[in-house]
Amino acid sequence: MRLFFALWPDADTKNQLAGVAAKLRLAAPSRLVPADNYHLTLAFLGEVPSSRLPGLLAIGAMQRASRLRITFDATEYWAKSQVFVAAAQKMPPELLTLWDQLHQDLALKAQPKPRAHVTLARKVAQAPVQQAMSPVAWSTSSFGLYRSETGGVQPAYTVVDTWPLLDEK
Ligand code: 2AM
Repeated sequence: MRLFFALWPDADTKNQLAGVAAKLRLAAPSRLVPADNYHLTLAFLGEVPSSRLPGLLAIGAMQRASRLRITFDATEYWAKSQVFVAAAQKMPPELLTLWDQLHQDLALKAQPKPRAHVTLARKVAQAPVQQAMSPVAWSTSSFGLYRSETGGVQPAYTVVDTWPLLDEK
């Protein structure tokens, strides 16, 4: 199964990001990501045998991160991966800590400077005309392990498990 750890936006954040995506004028073969599929990937595992699932669930459960406040305040076209994203210019320190800890626990190599982002469109061959983006502030109180099933027109994502992010005392 194809798995990844991610943050999933609440309805309000999702709708605000969808509002940003709706202003895009994209040429074929670009396609908008359905708003229900929006996510912020924390760690991508790829195909893993189901025998690894208990270990991955244990890693999710042992994280001790606090609630994350992320402000998406930039739209960016990433030519190499042909995606258009909403990005956070400032990486919140709590998010970086969770990101680093997960990669360490999963024995995955982390990018030296990860960029917090939500992909809004894929297969974007040309930079779209961009408009200024009003910041979208997201306060997230959980993260999860998700399964991706590719093969359809859009990937289908299902939640495997989620864990709380705790309020700071
Ligand atoms: P992104 O869109 O947030 O950048 C689920 O498949 C998610 O994992 C994708 O939305 C993508 O995140 C990320 N992903 C997919 N393939 C990947 C790869 N080969 N390396 C790193 N991340 C990948």
